[in-house]
Amino acid sequence: MRRMIIDTDTAADDSFAILIGLLHPQAKLEAVTIVAGNVDFDQQIENALITIEAAGRGGEVPVFPGARVPLMRPWRGAKAHGDGKGNHDFPKPKQKPEAEHAANALVRIVNENPGQIDIVAIGPLTNLATAIALDRDFPSKVRELRIMGGCDNSVGNITAAAEYNFYVDPEAAEIVLQAGFNTTIVTWTLTLSHALWSKEQLDRIARKKTKLSEFFTILDTPNLAYNQTKDIMGSTHPDSLNAMLLVRPDLVKSESRKFVSVETVSEMTRGYSLFDHRPERNAPNATVIHDVDAEGFYEAFSELLS
Ligand code: RIB
Ligand code: CA
Repeated sequence: MRRMIIDTDTAADDSFAILIGLLHPQAKLEAVTIVAGNVDFDQQIENALITIEAAGRGGEVPVFPGARVPLMRPWRGAKAHGDGKGNHDFPKPKQKPEAEHAANALVRIVNENPGQIDIVAIGPLTNLATAIALDRDFPSKVRELRIMGGCDNSVGNITAAAEYNFYVDPEAAEIVLQAGFNTTIVTWTLTLSHALWSKEQLDRIARKKTKLSEFFTILDTPNLAYNQTKDIMGSTHPDSLNAMLLVRPDLVKSESRKFVSVETVSEMTRGYSLFDHRPERNAPNATVIHDVDAEGFYEAFSELLS
């Protein structure tokens, strides 16, 4: 059983990661913390609450609002998701967000459960960098940090150089990567090769005609349309891949230890992620996943929607 906190800029694929935390038998979702990213911050809070209620868990998992802006940069949203909930009018969620700030909640919960909590980071890393500022020993008390971010020597998705989560708050990404967590990274590179679901796969999910398969299809549709404008034929699932590999490590087929660092000085390559496999140059600070059972991931997620 993996007790986890999901730190998220809740939109579409983030919601699918939250569904894994709520529904997978090996997952115990202790809390959701919200960070500035994909869409309007208050919309992200509502998207998280809607997702928790869609899974029938309303009122059972606290949602803590966190950083409403990056550490040093103006906030920049992502166009890939519409409003993050499929531009669909869901009923207003009954559950309310907590008053406690996400960074304080992260530090409190981890200090109450040292060595027992995994953090699934699927947005910019502003909340985690803030938690480190509050408690310098925070990294050593987190069991595993699972980051969705970066490109492993491949083209970015928000600029040619950078993946979105690292681009939005590069200073936070660099602080977190050098802070000494037990870090594993799922990259945009892996997403494009192993977590891109075709229209045929999406239709198979839609044909389930369950409440959750309909919820998935509604939220996924804007991403499918957006991707097609970028010649990506299908919807991309980086955040749910990151969450799924924590509870299904058997799906990992290859990984390696690398030194990972994020560009914070250059404007042109802001958020670029260096993935260096030469230990004689820089001691590795992360495990990077290179290959997974793509069909196994799709099946594992799809069966949660039955
Ligand atoms: O680059 C992919 C990341 O940016 C994912 O977390 C997705 O939610 C988008 O925000
Ligand atoms: Ca995200």
